[in-house]
Parts: sequence; C-alpha cells; structure tokens
Amino acid sequence: MTRHFVTIDQLSDDRLSLIYDLATSPFDDETMKGQGVALIFEWPSLRTRAASSSAVHELGGYATFFGDDEIGLDSRESAEDVGRTIAEMYAIAALRVRRHGVFARMREATSDRLSLINLLSDVAHPTQAVADVLTIADEFTEGDVSALSGLEVAYVGDATNVARSLAVALLRLGVNVTVGSPEGYQLTPGGEEDPSVVDGPGTLRLCDSAYDAVKDANVVYTDAWVSMGCEEETATRRAELTAFQVNEALMGVAKKDAILMHCLPAHRGDEITHEVLDSERSRVWRQVFHRRSAMIGVLRWIKGDS
Ligand code: CP
Ligand code: NVA
Repeated sequence: MTRHFVTIDQLSDDRLSLIYDLATSPFDDETMKGQGVALIFEWPSLRTRAASSSAVHELGGYATFFGDDEIGLDSRESAEDVGRTIAEMYAIAALRVRRHGVFARMREATSDRLSLINLLSDVAHPTQAVADVLTIADEFTEGDVSALSGLEVAYVGDATNVARSLAVALLRLGVNVTVGSPEGYQLTPGGEEDPSVVDGPGTLRLCDSAYDAVKDANVVYTDAWVSMGCEEETATRRAELTAFQVNEALMGVAKKDAILMHCLPAHRGDEITHEVLDSERSRVWRQVFHRRSAMIGVLRWIKGDS
C-alpha cells in the first residue's frame, strides 16, 4: 500500500506516533540507497528544500529538484501528466504547491503508485508541524511527544496553513490550542486539515485578541502576515494585523518560561520584533534543526522502516 504524507489529519495516531519516533531514532543510512526523491517547488523555499535534500541524502538516496519555472504545473503541463511522468522514474515526490487539490489529482492520475509528501500547500504544512511538535517536546517533556498533554499553545496572527497543521497535530496530542486572530484571518472550518473537527483530547479555542490568546501560554507561535500568494494584500494585511504583532509586551502576558516559535521566514517589524525573535525565549533555530528530523521521520515511515 503506497504511503502518503499530505495532511496530519489523514494519519492515524499510531502512524503519527511512529513518524515522531522515526524522526529522532537511529537510522540506517542505506534506507533509501540508490533511490531518488523528486522535489517539486511551485513556491520559494529555504528550510524545506534544505531539510528535504539533506534528509534524503542522509538516508542514502538522492534528491532531484524541479522548480516551477521548469515544469510549469498546470501551465506547461497538467499536474496529472507531471505526476505520471515523475512516477515512471521515482517512487516518492515531495511537493510545495499553490493548490492543495494537486495531491488528490496526482494520486488519481498515478493510480496511487507514487508516494506524495506535502511540503506546504495553501491548506497545510504538515512536515513543519512534525518539526514543531518535536521542538515543543524537547522543551517541555525531554523529547517525549506522548507526554505533551495539558500544555497551552497560543497561535497569534494570520491563521495560516502552518497554524492548521500545527493545531491538528497538537490537539491530537492533548495540547490545548488558542488561536488569536482578527476577523477575516481566523481559522475557517471545512476542508482538509481542519482543527475544528479534531475530536480532542486537546481543546481548541478561537478568540480575536492577541492578549487573551497568549495569557498564561507555554508556547507563543506566529507566522507571516503575508503568506506566499497574498503579496497583493500586503498593505491591508499589515494594517489589519498590527495589533497581533508578537513583541515583548505580548510575551509578557505568557507564562514566565514561555517559549517563542515561528516557522520562518520571519518579517521583523511585522508579525514579530527583533527583540523577541533573538531573545532567549526563541526556539526558532531548534525548529529549523527539526525540519530535517521531521523529513527523516516521514521518509523512513514511507519506506516502511519500522
Ligand atoms: N518554514 C518553511 O517552510 O520555510 P521555507 O519556506 O524557507 O521552506
Ligand atoms: N504561511 C506561510 C508559511 C511559509 C513557510 C506561507 O504560506 O507563505
């Protein structure tokens, strides 16, 4: 059975638990010996591309990068035909796509014989969520992902693809998640990777105040105000999200030992200030470190390395 990693919500608790274990346990560097992974990026990337390439390499395989300007997903050629072509030469494709629906279309077009990994879509960023869970576990439970229940995580700002995958992953582990966003930027119910339909054990709370969201939180998390593809809305977004900047005053409302997280790239002066991002509370570089751990976990799981 071909394995896919497209959203957190498509994976059972057991499978997720296995992926967290495989991300940090010793591995055989011949797990993917001689095997290729196609990396397809419709948007720019630093961390995700670096993490994917190095994880494949560490497992003994090789990665081939395809940029949007080369393959033109749905412009030069349909996503279906790109999938069919890749499936003739690779067993795994990892994609960063503008439209989440590409994953279902490629699965159908390839009769489910190409494993797909979501490296960010407009709906979800699940490999980031795995890295974030590992980072939070390092901080609060000595790396034990199964012991995170009861923590309070506040997500502030635009409730993006990153927020959706993070919330689904944390709620499934019993972490309580509060999302503080203004009207128009809050989580919307429906579709895939929807935290509002996660049946606990964590509790999801939505509010329209950054201060209410962050009060007594163990973790404060934010993401860009202007996600890729929203550049034309930059001025409006800056104006409407100003009160949701993560700065020293806001961090002062969180628990005394609260940590600060951001998926990066950060936009200093917009969603986050220099002071906070570079402070002792910041765990953003640990998150980056775990981006590769997460990819190793996902690739090992797809290869059946358990
Ligand atoms: N966090 C993240 O996905 O970073 P990149 O866009 O640089 O890959
Ligand atoms: N929400 C951001 C995440 C970047 C890693 C975006 O989609 O651009």
